[in-house]
Amino acid sequence: MKLGVIGTSWISDSFLESAKIVNKFDFVAVASPRMESVEKFQKKYGFKETYTDVSLMAEKSKLDVVYIATPNSFHYEQTKLFLNKKVNVICEKPITLSRSELIDLKETALLNGVFFIEAMRSLHHPNLKKLKEFIVDIKPFRHASFQFMRYSSKYDAYKNGEKPKVFLKEFGGGAVNDLGVYTLTTALYLFGKPLKVTSDSVILDTLVDASTVITLNYGTFLVTCSSSKVSNSYLMNEIQGEKESILLNHVTHLDKIIKVNDEGSCTLLDDRIDHDMQYEIKDFISIIENKDIQMFEEYLTYTLDVLEVIEKTRIK
Ligand SMILES: NC(=O)c1ccc[n+]([C@@H]2O[C@H](COP(=O)([O-])OP(=O)(O)OC[C@H]3O[C@@H](n4cnc5c(N)ncnc54)[C@H](OP(=O)(O)O)[C@@H]3O)[C@@H](O)[C@H]2O)c1
Repeated sequence: MKLGVIGTSWISDSFLESAKIVNKFDFVAVASPRMESVEKFQKKYGFKETYTDVSLMAEKSKLDVVYIATPNSFHYEQTKLFLNKKVNVICEKPITLSRSELIDLKETALLNGVFFIEAMRSLHHPNLKKLKEFIVDIKPFRHASFQFMRYSSKYDAYKNGEKPKVFLKEFGGGAVNDLGVYTLTTALYLFGKPLKVTSDSVILDTLVDASTVITLNYGTFLVTCSSSKVSNSYLMNEIQGEKESILLNHVTHLDKIIKVNDEGSCTLLDDRIDHDMQYEIKDFISIIENKDIQMFEEYLTYTLDVLEVIEKTRIK
């Protein structure tokens, strides 16, 4: 398949290293605003075509799949542009900032006979399926807490008066859009849609959330999803039954799962997988090759459910 890549930051590197493992792509075209970084990618991965203008790439390049890793506010329009050119799209999270945009992308994809997915790495990770199997043993659930709180490498710049995109509303920045989406995806994958959503945030003067706690109420148990761009959390994620808990080290790495009770603890899984973006790539290729509308819709449903929760919070 002929692959195009938009954006040349470290996450595009990660994607391409995983893509090499999957070994299904010809690296055809790369685009980003600065030619200097585009040329660096061309040299490193052997792309044949380079662009600083995404519309030109959409116009000229003959692609089967494009991977989009640009600031959040560009995802919707860039995904739509390529779907309308009959190119399949794998786009970084959050693929859109609203449900209505996502529904529009679905209609656009179906109209053009192509597919897209959100590059939500945890959702395609084999250890997430294992976690779902492990937690059955500790039912009934009584509580769960997921956190992704990481002091942003760009926060010092923000404090020095600069305006990094990840802290700007017009670029779809903020803690929930960047990190909270992971915690919500895990929660909704494990427990389904909640009955009620509440939240609170600390808001920066750029009007994006520095940190947010979202509480999902399932009637008989609560799930808290915490995200922050201004502090680090070293806590394990936890799913509590009545007398035992399952601990998970990280919502995206998903490499260590432990069961614990008053008697002690036992490790259920200890399995760090490098290049874990290979799983979303493999799933997407399978959707495309098999024209698997059911699988396409299944992944879309998780994304829609996460957006529904976010729309119920005060982060807009
Ligand atoms: N899946 C994951 O684990 C993961 C991890 C990190 C980030 N992400 C996601 O990846 C995306 C990019 O994040 P980031 O922190 O890498 O952002 P970033 O550094 O601000 O930008 C990423 C790339 O997009 C380019 N770019 C900026 N505006 C563009 C435009 N209008 N058209 C085309 N390219 C444009 C940037 O070029 P310049 O350098 O010239 O600005 C850069 O190469 C976000 O959606 C984020 O949520 C995902």
